[in-house]
Amino acid sequence: MASPERGVSQTTTDRITTLANHFKESLLTASASIATSTSSKEEEEEGTASMGSQHAEYKFEGWMGLDKTAAEGNMKWQEFEPKTWTEDDVDIKITHCGICGSDIHTLRSGWGATMYPCCVGHEIVGTAVKVGKNVKHFKLGDKIGVGAQSGSCLDCEECDAGQECYCVKGMVGTYNGQYPDSSKSYGGYANYCRAPAHFAVKIPDGLKLEDAAPMLCGGITVYNPLKKNGCGPGKKVGIVGIGGLGHFGLLFAKALGADEVVAISRSSSKEADARKMGATGFIATAEDPKWASKHARSLDLIVSTVSSPDMPLESYLRLLRTNGDFIQVGAPEDKLPAFNIFSLIAKGCKLGGSCIGSPAEIQAMLEFAAGKQIRPWVTVRDMGQANQSVVDMEDGKARYRYVLKNEKHAAELGL
Ligand SMILES: NC(=O)c1ccc[n+]([C@@H]2O[C@H](COP(=O)([O-])OP(=O)(O)OC[C@H]3O[C@@H](n4cnc5c(N)ncnc54)[C@H](OP(=O)(O)O)[C@@H]3O)[C@@H](O)[C@H]2O)c1
Ligand SMILES: [Zn+2]
Ligand SMILES: [Zn+2]
Repeated sequence: MASPERGVSQTTTDRITTLANHFKESLLTASASIATSTSSKEEEEEGTASMGSQHAEYKFEGWMGLDKTAAEGNMKWQEFEPKTWTEDDVDIKITHCGICGSDIHTLRSGWGATMYPCCVGHEIVGTAVKVGKNVKHFKLGDKIGVGAQSGSCLDCEECDAGQECYCVKGMVGTYNGQYPDSSKSYGGYANYCRAPAHFAVKIPDGLKLEDAAPMLCGGITVYNPLKKNGCGPGKKVGIVGIGGLGHFGLLFAKALGADEVVAISRSSSKEADARKMGATGFIATAEDPKWASKHARSLDLIVSTVSSPDMPLESYLRLLRTNGDFIQVGAPEDKLPAFNIFSLIAKGCKLGGSCIGSPAEIQAMLEFAAGKQIRPWVTVRDMGQANQSVVDMEDGKARYRYVLKNEKHAAELGL
């Protein structure tokens, strides 16, 4: 049915590039002053009219990255042209958007050239203010969200199997992506977002919108590999990198019932927090030279969220027990370190990767999180502080996810 987003027959290299591209859903940078952002936002609000109708009039505006310096806090608040409307689409009036590590990689063209201007942000929640006639799974006014994916062919074996994020024809990222008609995708550091409704999910009543937002990428990216690799009673699980994704790893591993949940971080500065999130053990890799031998063969499953290639991969693999799994979800901009293959061969271990999750999997995770009353650790900031927040995120200051809030849109919902 739908035509492929990218070429039909792909070489392996193309395929890898395509996969890398879907992480390049860049958005914007930060330095433009908060004063500028505030006045821009006021103009934006004045341009907003007659919400709730199928013919709502509003301008799409957001924080735009214009070049690589965007990641240094140089995003500019600008109008943009959303994707061409179809009756399969939805417009979301954004209340919140989380800041994901992928936003930074994309803003600075870390995974390859970003298609500037680019508005990042793919942990988007808000209300449906325009809903295409073909959309059946939610209605006008519903609280909905969109994660890191906003398109796939919906026709290949993977899409048919509910694995849209592994679509053989490539995925359209929620930002820095291109739809089949060549229109671009723009993310959620913005006032409105337009996306194909297939990729939008309903936010359960039991979840606060500011908590649900970072689950749409950060949450699902660790929930999926934990669930698919047997995290639960009888398993000892390690999470490497206690940032946005990693803190979700601890929360979900505990909620899934793992016997032990070990946080693996560079220093002990996050130990107290990690234990509050459910960690039963903590390894500070930069503080104890003997950590790898001391904890060797202690874990069945490790999910690594490390965002830099500067990681002791071979030492992480020493922590695996026989038949253990190491799943890398962090997406560094350079190759991983070389390692001795006997780290895997000698214990029958597997090294794997995992990419976000399908809309159905995201929906299931949200229901699970609501049922277990999982509360992520978020710092809510005004959307006008996007530039400073990107800089602070890059400096490792997030504890553990910044969530940008559109105060006016949130206030309209009584939030
Ligand atoms: N596979 C997917 O589908 C997917 C989806 C979303 C994001 N990602 C990727 O996952 C990665 C993490 O994203 P995030 O939002 O969780 O980022 P984040 O909040 O910045 O967390 C990354 C963590 O990596 C750890 N780390 C270890 N060595 C590091 C080093 N040399 N430099 C910087 N950090 C280091 C840090 O934890 P400690 O301080 O505890 O050491 C840091 O908190 C990014 O690369 C992102 O693009 C992948
Ligand atoms: Zn993300
Ligand atoms: Zn497909």
